[in-house]
Amino acid sequence: MLMSIKILFATGNAHKFAEASAMLRPHGIGLQRLDSKRGEIRAEDVEQVALASAKSLFAEVKKPLIVEDSGLFIPSLNDFPGAYSAWVQKKLGNKGILKLMKNAADRSAYFKACVAYADKKGARTFCGEVHGSICESERGSAGFGYDPIFVPAGETQTFAENETLKNRISHRFNAFTAFARWYSNYVP
Ligand code: IMP
Repeated sequence: MLMSIKILFATGNAHKFAEASAMLRPHGIGLQRLDSKRGEIRAEDVEQVALASAKSLFAEVKKPLIVEDSGLFIPSLNDFPGAYSAWVQKKLGNKGILKLMKNAADRSAYFKACVAYADKKGARTFCGEVHGSICESERGSAGFGYDPIFVPAGETQTFAENETLKNRISHRFNAFTAFARWYSNYVP
């Protein structure tokens, strides 16, 4: 498909960029990476973080752009690590999460991603989730972050063991697909 549209995607995460680019390609939307060093705002909610970051970055760059914020939420840990997922992954890692979950009866968890798109007409968000559970040990080497400990509902493999499955059902796929459907009828 001819890719006539190019939108900036501000992210420091190369995995996110690769996943999102592959998801938008079938919709004829191309992404260009903006390796933003901008600090994210502090908020509990990934949608608020994405929206505020997109608005402030657009004010600076003045070109149509996307920001995506995401996280892993574990209900038995009061939705920890949530909006702090990146920091917790760095400090505790998957082993730390498995330790916290050692005696948990409820191992359910979900990922949430919110895409915020901003241009001269304003900003809006598109969110997606994927539900599943935290397994007993790390498995697989694909993907990034919490992929080796997350098994989607109804499956046996972790996201890190089955990248194809991940990219078909993930929180990021759901959020970027919602964005692409909206954008295909949008006049910038
Ligand atoms: P942020 O959106 O850059 O604040 O970071 C979100 C963090 O959540 C990432 O650094 C990962 O630790 C985690 N995360 C978000 N999406 C995924 C995913 O698709 N797989 C595994 N971990 C993820």
